[in-house]
Amino acid sequence: MFPTMRMRRLRSSKFRPMVREATLDVRDLICPIFVDETISKPLEINSMPGVFRQSLKTAADEAASISKLGIPAIIIFGIPAEKDETGTHAYGDDDVVQKAVRAIKKKVGDDLIVITDLCLCEYTSHGHCGMVNEKHEILNDPTLDILGKTAVSHARAGADIVAPSGMMDGMVGAIRSALDENNFKDVPIMSYAAKYCSVFYGPFREAASSGFSFGDRASYQMDPGNSDEALREVALDIEEGADIIMVKPAMTYLDIIYRVKKKFKMPTAAYHVSGEYSMIKAAAQNGWIDEKRAIYESLISIKRAGADMILTYFAKDVAIDLNSK
Ligand code: PBG
Repeated sequence: MFPTMRMRRLRSSKFRPMVREATLDVRDLICPIFVDETISKPLEINSMPGVFRQSLKTAADEAASISKLGIPAIIIFGIPAEKDETGTHAYGDDDVVQKAVRAIKKKVGDDLIVITDLCLCEYTSHGHCGMVNEKHEILNDPTLDILGKTAVSHARAGADIVAPSGMMDGMVGAIRSALDENNFKDVPIMSYAAKYCSVFYGPFREAASSGFSFGDRASYQMDPGNSDEALREVALDIEEGADIIMVKPAMTYLDIIYRVKKKFKMPTAAYHVSGEYSMIKAAAQNGWIDEKRAIYESLISIKRAGADMILTYFAKDVAIDLNSK
């Protein structure tokens, strides 16, 4: 065919934007926010430069500024003043997430979708996502009731969507029934359906004080070598009532995002996690990589793979940049 077909023709700066297949929009972004009950002003997270824990006083202002940028949703992680064996402070009406949701909703109303991360690891003294016995086993079924109770408390505070991230079997079904029984049948569930046991969550555990005191999360999070299993996880979550499904982390699992979107055609989210953020930040701070280009290339790859929405700590930076164009 050469020289009739010249692929370079459309690569000129004039045509490039016109033929771009995947695009990134402010409406694709979900911005995580950490709310720490024990602080009074924002506190920068060491391993995530540019990301702050908010206090209960500053969280609503932060949410308002995110909303003003056109970002449609936030996801809240709570850091409680007290932890115990069973994560009691995950579900009290006056605990950190519930208070934060009420304050944010009061300030920004329905302009912003408030998603709550629904897990116990920030609230348990051992740091695991479920109940634990003397033999240090993570117990699945006794955890489900607590997750249901926590979901209802989030919804009662005004959460628009709950996002279970603990990878307990049956969690979506348990949460769906608890919400329905309490008249929250219109609150959707965004399930961390295919969540891998990943080293890239490292910085998050500092950010959310959710490191564990023994073992690891390999008995509940997925093995990085598996991909058919991700499809089974997602299928089960859909059967149990998940409205949006998530793949996490994002860039090391682009094949999973692709397969999940192709097979299920569900609203699909991808979590560009803390380690993915920190790697770009660290390299940029050393002058080894162009930060802005690294961010765009990363996020566009996640969209190209098939994600409809991206949870990313770069949400504000990207929104500011996109809005300036
Ligand atoms: C809680 C939870 C984690 C993340 C989101 N929810 C940590 C974990 O599973 O250890 C990680 C997010 C990130 O790394 O940015 N279960």
